[in-house]
Order: sequence, then structure tokens, then C-alpha cells
Amino acid sequence: MKTAVKIVPLEQVRVDLLVVVSGHVHDKVPDSLLGLDEAVGGAIHRVIASGDFSGDRDQATLLYGVRGPRRVLLLGMGDHAQITRAALRTAAAVGVRRALGLGAKSVAFHVTQETHPGVPPEAMGQVVTEGALQGAWKFVQLKAVRDGKGPVESFDLIVAREVRPEVERGRARGHAIGIGQRLARNLQMLPGNVCTPDYLAGIARELGRAYGFKVTVLGRAQMERDGMGALLSVAQGSLQEPRFITVEYRGAGRDAPVCLVGKGITFDSGGISLKPADKMDEMKYDMSGAAAVLGAFETLGQLKPAVNVVGIIPSTENLPSGTATRPGDVVRSHLGKTIEIVNTDAEGRLILADALSYARRFKPSCVIDAATLTGAVVIGLGTHATGLMGNDDRLIDEVRQAGDRAGERCWPLPLWEEYREQIRSDVADVKNSGGRPAGSITAGWFLREFVDGFPWAHLDIAGTAYLDGERPGLAKGPTGLGVRLFSEFVLARGRG
Ligand code: BES
Ligand code: MN
Ligand code: ZN
Repeated sequence: MKTAVKIVPLEQVRVDLLVVVSGHVHDKVPDSLLGLDEAVGGAIHRVIASGDFSGDRDQATLLYGVRGPRRVLLLGMGDHAQITRAALRTAAAVGVRRALGLGAKSVAFHVTQETHPGVPPEAMGQVVTEGALQGAWKFVQLKAVRDGKGPVESFDLIVAREVRPEVERGRARGHAIGIGQRLARNLQMLPGNVCTPDYLAGIARELGRAYGFKVTVLGRAQMERDGMGALLSVAQGSLQEPRFITVEYRGAGRDAPVCLVGKGITFDSGGISLKPADKMDEMKYDMSGAAAVLGAFETLGQLKPAVNVVGIIPSTENLPSGTATRPGDVVRSHLGKTIEIVNTDAEGRLILADALSYARRFKPSCVIDAATLTGAVVIGLGTHATGLMGNDDRLIDEVRQAGDRAGERCWPLPLWEEYREQIRSDVADVKNSGGRPAGSITAGWFLREFVDGFPWAHLDIAGTAYLDGERPGLAKGPTGLGVRLFSEFVLARGRG
């Protein structure tokens, strides 16, 4: 989908759907919509006079005009205080998703500056464009028979002349972030027989070719030489070759890089500690952390900010077989610590352990990992917040703020020393499961055992990476969560 910022009187916009966002209208057509009202034969006046549209939050009214745009969708946003970055992003997504349902190919979007006094023009341009791309997402790659709806081809943001340059800067940012998120969602959606570790490596190489990143891919033999016993213990049950992928973006010379680590389990059956059949298919999403990292690199390639970033993706399947790891097996990690694998379904932390200790070679300024790590985080926080942990309060704060700006909110969980007891092993240095109590925190503690010498934050995205049903502006399924947060984080460092 193309996105653009345009200056056109609303009544002259020629599109299949014009979305007009409005706060409370106070019983009369706002001055800025008078021309448009005429083009739709007074329909805006009538819908307001009848009381059917007051501008309350989440109101949506579709109008058909005579001249001007073919359809007009009025979207209510409520009080000024409710018109935040997140609300504007969602409004654009709702508008474009409506267009998708209507089979509208061209969309225009307008929100008056008076409607969003709290969101400056540049930020408005960014979040509205992010939302538009989010709303336009539809996965058809594996359909042989199409339903004929979509795609939406163009999205024009209609603004006043004075703010156009700022809105355009925001649009460019939002577009870059939006296509990063689209890549992540597409990768998430692909099933385990298509999106294998080697497939992810291929995507990383493609990004490398397109944007000039350095990409390195290790196979099983090199991982053995490097002593990645934790990752290999997960891979040993599968016929798929594991891949250890690194992507390097240099935008700031010799500065210490930000390291982004993503869990890349392309299918998690649980291994010998086999999962129940119900919803096991959803475990194709167990590479969502990896997808978020790759998506963020798409954004980086587009925007080329002044910052260095290294992406690290440990990737394998987790399957049971005659060669698979047994519960009770002890392996030696890349860091050197030994691990008792009491539950082969706690595999994410094993592959991340080796990735976190590998990260040391880049002398990172900080490391942030994203992983669909625990079912417990879904119990604790549900689907509205990502679990956040780490070893550095300042970094945790910085990540949390990036998440707020991104509309991908995180909530901290305490990595108190007391929880560490739960992963003590009788036979090895640590064991890979601390049992049911505080399952997300003990997983965080396990990761921390392999963090050596840098500020680190961990995002448990098991509840937020994909959804069972749809949300306003968001289709059911993969959310691409992490791309926006990573992008916000890295872009803020690039300007600082
Ligand atoms: N990939 C799962 C976590 C998960 C669960 C993600 C539900 C999304 C939805 C992870 O590998 C896992 O199986 N974790 C176990 C850990 C336990 C065995 C200590 C869990 O959460 O049950
Ligand atoms: Mn598992
Ligand atoms: Zn898993």
C-alpha cells in the first residue's frame, strides 16, 4: 500500500473511502466539514441533527455522497483527552480495515489539528500511517482461492498546508515501521513446514542484500564448534537444520551497538515433554520474537538512523524423536554453565541462553530480547501487556517508554533474588524450569544466568504476539508486536 500526505479540500478528494476522524461535534457540523457536508448532500448535518453521530468514542457512521469521495466514514474519538497517539493509530487502522471489508482500494484520512491538540503533527503522521498499514494487513500468501476483497492500494493523509512538512516526516517514519510490522506478521503467519530456521535465515539474507546489512548464518557444525550446547539440545530432536542468525546494521561508526535478540522456535511441540494437542498449531508463532527482530531491521534499512544495531536470532524446531533430549539430561551452554533440562518444553530459554552469551562478542551498549517464553505471562498479564524484566532499572524504564510510544505497552515483573532458588539444580549449575509459581519470573531468572557484562531487558511476548480474535483495527492472529517497540527504542537512541 502506498501512503502519501496531501493538501486537498475534502469535498474534492476522489477516493473510494474518505475517513474523517472527529471529536465531539456539539450538535453542529464542524466548520472544517462544511464543504464536505455539501458534497454529501447534507448527510453529515442530518446524521448529527438526528443524534446518530455525536463524535463519541468508537462511533462509526458510513455516508454515501453525490460528489467528492464515493463513501465517507465518520469516526468518533470522544474528548480531546482521549485522542492519544494510540487512539489515532487505532482510528486509522479501523478506517482501513473497513475499506478492506468494503472492497475500497483508495482511502483518504483526515483529522483536524483541533481534534488532537495533544499529538503534534509529526507524531500524528507517524501513528496514523502505522495504523493504516496495520489495518491493511491481510495474509493471502497461502491461499489458492482468493475472496476478491482487497488489497487497499493507496492511503492519503489529508492535512492543512502549514503542517504538511512535519506530517510528511512522520509519515515516512510510520511507513517504515508499518512495513517492518507487516514483514513480522507475514513471517509469524507462515506455518512450521514453510517457515523453518533456514527460511528465517533466507529472509535475513534478503534483508542484508536489500539494505546492505552484514548477515552471518551458523549451521549445526559451527554451533558445535562454538559450544552452543543449550541451543543444540533443542535442535537435536528435529530433522530441520538449526540456524544461528546475526544481522548487523552500522549507522554510527564504532559506537557500541544495541543488540536485539529474538526467539526463533519455528515450531514448539514441547519435545519429549509433549504439549497437549489443543491449540498446539499456535506454536508456529513461537518464532514471533525472531519476526520482531527481522521486522525492526526492515524499518532500520528504510530509515538508516545514526545508531548501530545487531540482531541475533537463535532458531530451531522443538520436536520429539529418538534423538531428542530426555528430561533430566544435562548439557553445557555456550557460556560454560551446565544446565539440567528437567522439561524439554522450556526450550526458549535454552536457545536464548546461548544467544545472550554470544552477544558479548559485540560489546553491546544494551541487549533486549523478545520471546514467546511462558504461558504464565498470559495468566499474569493477559493479552494487553508484555512482561518486562531485566538487570538494569534505567534500561527497563527506557524500554517501557518506547513501548508506551509504540502502543505496545510493557509491565515490569520483579527479578528478585529470592526467585532464583527455584532454578537451582542438584546435578548441574541451573535447571531450566522453576515449576509453576512465578513461571515468567523464573524464566527471566534463567536468562539472567547467561547475561554477562551488559544492561539487559527481556520482553515476554507470549500473550501479545498473537491474538485469538480480532480487535478494533487489528485482524485476528499475529500482531507483529515488538517491531514498533524496537523501532521506537532504537530511533530514540539514534537521535540522542
Ligand atoms: N512457547 C512456549 C510458551 C507459550 C505458551 C507461548 C503459550 C505462547 C502461548 C514455551 O516454550 C513453553 O512451552 N513454556 C513452558 C515452560 C514450562 C515448561 C516451564 C510453559 O509456559 O508452560
Ligand atoms: Mn515450549
Ligand atoms: Zn516455546
